[in-house]
Amino acid sequence: MYAQMVKSTGKALLSREEMSPQERAFQDRIDQGEKIEPKDWMPEGYRKNLIRQIGQHAHSEIVGQLPEGNWITRAPTLERKANLLAKVQDEAGHGLYLYCAAETLGVSRDQLFEMLHTGKMKYSSIFNYPTLTWADMGAVGWLVDGAAIMNQVPLQRTSYGPYARAMVRICKEESFHQRQGFQIMLTMANGTEDQKRMAQDALNRFWYPALMMFGPSDKDSVHSAQSMAWKIKMNTNDELRQKFVDETVPQAEFLGLTVPDEHLTWNEDTGHYDYSEPDWNEFFDVISGNGPCNTERLEARKMAWDDGAWVREGMLAHARKSQARKAAAE
Ligand code: 3HC
Repeated sequence: MYAQMVKSTGKALLSREEMSPQERAFQDRIDQGEKIEPKDWMPEGYRKNLIRQIGQHAHSEIVGQLPEGNWITRAPTLERKANLLAKVQDEAGHGLYLYCAAETLGVSRDQLFEMLHTGKMKYSSIFNYPTLTWADMGAVGWLVDGAAIMNQVPLQRTSYGPYARAMVRICKEESFHQRQGFQIMLTMANGTEDQKRMAQDALNRFWYPALMMFGPSDKDSVHSAQSMAWKIKMNTNDELRQKFVDETVPQAEFLGLTVPDEHLTWNEDTGHYDYSEPDWNEFFDVISGNGPCNTERLEARKMAWDDGAWVREGMLAHARKSQARKAAAE
C-alpha cells in the first residue's frame, strides 16, 4: 500500500449524526473558520493526520535542500551563488518552522526524524529526481517552488493555528524562490543555442514530476475527503494541479519553451488547459522508495543526523549542567 492509512476517524467520513457531541462541536469550530490551537481538544484522527502532513512537509523542506545544495559551488556567478545559498538556507528554516508546528501536536523532533530515516514517513516525490545541469536550478525554482506555492498559499488558511501561521512566512519566501528560478530560465532561454537547449531539457525532465507533487488523482487520494472536512487541506489534488498548469503554460510560452505534452490544448468550454496525466505508475514507484535518488537522499539525511550527534549531545550536557547549577544556587 502506498499510503500510511492514518485513520482519521476509525471509519469513513462521519456524518453529523454519527459524531459525538464533542466531535460535533469541534467540526462546528472548523466550519466557522476558527483556528484550532495546541491546547484545544481535537479528535485523535485530526492530530495524527496533521502530524503526518506537517511532518511530511517538514521532511520535504530539508530533503529538498539536497538537489540544490549540490549546485551552490558550481553556480555560474557570485550573484547566482548568493541567491541559491539564500534559497537553500530558507528551506532549512521552513523545515524548522514546520517541525516546531508538528511538535505542538505531541510528537518529538527525534521521533519525526526516526520515522523519516526508517521510511515510515514520506517526503515529496520531486526530490528523488537528479539535478543534472545548471538549468535544473532554474526549472526547480520555477516549477517545483511554483508548484509548492500553488499548494501552500491555501494552507495559510488551514484550520490548525501553528501550521497556518508557519505557512505565511514560508509562502513569502517561496515566491522569491520561484522568481529566482524563473529568472534563471529567462536568462538561459534568451542565451546561446546551447543554453536554450539546456533550459528546454530541464523543462522536459521536470514537467511531469512537478505535476506529481500535487499527489495522486482525486479518485486515488486516500486522505483528501477527511482532510478537507477538517480544513487540513483546502483543495483537492486535481484542483491545484489544474491551477498550476493554467498558470505555468503561459509562462513557458513567454520563455519560448515547449511544454512536453503533445495533448496540451486550451479548452474554451472549460476555461482550462487539457493536459496529459503524469505516469502514475512512476509516481507510486517513487513514493514507495524506488525513484532514481531515493537511496542517495535518505543516506545523506541519515549521515547528517549521525554527524550531528556530538552537537546534540553537547547541547544536552550543557543544558543539564546549567539546570544543576541553577538548582544548586536555589
Ligand atoms: N510525494 C510523496 N508522497 C505523496 C505525494 C508526493 N508528491 N503526494 C501524495 N503522497 C502520498 C501521501 O502522503 C499519502 O501517503 P501517506 O498516507 O503515507 O502520507 C499518499 O500519497 C496518498 O495521497 P493523498 O492525496 O491521500 O495524500 P494527502 O491528502 O496528504 O495529499 C499532499 C498530498 C497534497 C502533498 C498534501 O499532503 C499536502 O498538501 N501537503 C502539504 C504540502 C507539502 O508537503 N508540500 C511538499 C512540497 S515540497 C516543498 O514544499 C519544498 C519547497 O521548498 C519546494
